[in-house]
Amino acid sequence: MADPSPPNQIVIFGASGDLTRRKLIPALAALEGRELDEADFSVLGVARREKSDESFRAELAIDVPEELRPAYHRLAPRIHYQAADASDVDSMRALGARLDELPGGPDAGRLFYLSLKPDLFGPTVEALAECGLLAMREQETQSWRRVVIEKPFGRDLESARALNEHLHRWLREDQIYRIDHYLGKETVQNLLGLRFHNAIFEPLWNRHHVELVQITVAEDIGVERGRGGYYDDTGALRDMLQNHMLQVLSLVAMEPPASLAPEAVRSQKVELLRALRCADPQHVDEISVRARYGAGANGEAAYVDEEGVAFGSQTETFIAVRAEIDNWRWSGVPFLLRHGKRMAKRFTEVQVQFRTPPIQLFNRPDGLSADEYHRRLREGSLCEIRPNVLTVSLQPREAIRLSFGVKQPGASMVMAPAALDFDYREHFGKAPADAYERLLLDALHGDQTLFLRGDEIEASWRYADEVLEGWQGGPAPPLLEYPAGSWGPSEADALFHGCEGGWSRG
Ligand SMILES: NC(=O)c1ccc[n+]([C@@H]2O[C@H](COP(=O)([O-])OP(=O)(O)OC[C@H]3O[C@@H](n4cnc5c(N)ncnc54)[C@H](OP(=O)(O)O)[C@@H]3O)[C@@H](O)[C@H]2O)c1
Repeated sequence: MADPSPPNQIVIFGASGDLTRRKLIPALAALEGRELDEADFSVLGVARREKSDESFRAELAIDVPEELRPAYHRLAPRIHYQAADASDVDSMRALGARLDELPGGPDAGRLFYLSLKPDLFGPTVEALAECGLLAMREQETQSWRRVVIEKPFGRDLESARALNEHLHRWLREDQIYRIDHYLGKETVQNLLGLRFHNAIFEPLWNRHHVELVQITVAEDIGVERGRGGYYDDTGALRDMLQNHMLQVLSLVAMEPPASLAPEAVRSQKVELLRALRCADPQHVDEISVRARYGAGANGEAAYVDEEGVAFGSQTETFIAVRAEIDNWRWSGVPFLLRHGKRMAKRFTEVQVQFRTPPIQLFNRPDGLSADEYHRRLREGSLCEIRPNVLTVSLQPREAIRLSFGVKQPGASMVMAPAALDFDYREHFGKAPADAYERLLLDALHGDQTLFLRGDEIEASWRYADEVLEGWQGGPAPPLLEYPAGSWGPSEADALFHGCEGGWSRG
């Protein structure tokens, strides 16, 4: 019988940081005793400040949710701490010696999770590589070496390319796990399931039947405490549209993969991102709206008054874009993307709006002559309600809803709106797992499907860069202002044309 695999080692750089405390450790506690146990892994936290294993464990315990406490207490003895500067080669050598002493030793599979500031991604990988900590043989199934890179991955195409090149000097692509936590969400993964498992949707999923698609990520909070400086340097386009929203878009619109193999899925996503029509810098004002929140009616501070926001800041907290995909399936179908902070409501959703029937037999507007009715039908100015909309809600409710029209009871043929509704929690009796649980598990198992490939990141930056460049030159759209707690600037409504309808309100 083959020897059992040695336990893996998860090395978290940035171990005292916000992400580790709020997400990574609770995710590992949730996996403890379920998908993973003592035989599977130990954890080594790394940050510069000195502390003992015991004090580190006690510090982490504070942020573990009540329901995960018992699992955390089982996990805690396998959590260790090493003070080290991630970019310093001598510190990394000492780290290597410590890892050799932990369960599994040099034979353990090692997952290096870089929960660090982005400018440390490159230097940390370089320091690890110089100490031989990333060396890996071809086709290694044990003692593998993988690196998880947090977001943001670059701040434009050029810096993303430079980081990719730097990483590839030390790592093979199959060792690099670029994270976008949206892909770890059950409902985001379900976009693939919904499309490719159910034969009823796919035949309709194209320009012949879909009129438009809209994707919204609306937040009701403003800039989080302590993150004003970071956000002011980033803005809504870089923080949300370039990564999470384009990821959701690629899953909604990609071609069917031949299999669920990571490369099959990721290649289709890259193809789709490459087919996004780049904004013409001279016309970027026609396809995008940018804005920032002003003071709200309930005393919310304006963005410019938030702590850490620079004087004279020109950073957007709201972006809306009318995107187009130049491929056979989607030619001419607009994809309307919108994200804002301090909006009226928190929700993330995808809406696929199907075309209306070619002849409207029901609910014709009163008082139109037959000629006028046919003329308005021909020009598309008869703005009747679209009966068929498929809404995939990603948060806070995880649900799928298909709306359709039914005959209203009574003597006349009047159609009224109705819907089929599916709710994850109601159906499965439990909330979907946190995204980081799935992503950590996949990284340990060596499954890269839900992680971004280098060319995928570059394809999404290419699109984002064109919009950014348009904003910086040419007839750039003005930076508008919307009251905190509102639906954003009314100018965003103009991205819908003719009878296409308007933005969802969740
Ligand atoms: N927080 C979130 O919700 C969130 C969400 C998505 C993505 N991210 C990404 O995750 C990463 C971490 O974010 P965060 O919010 O957790 O940051 P953070 O709270 O500022 O924590 C940074 C951590 O890095 C450590 N550190 C700094 N310099 C170091 C060095 N040279 N060597 C070793 N450790 C060092 C710090 O501890 P010492 O000072 O003791 O060294 C601290 O533990 C960032 O890339 C961020 O963009 C965060």
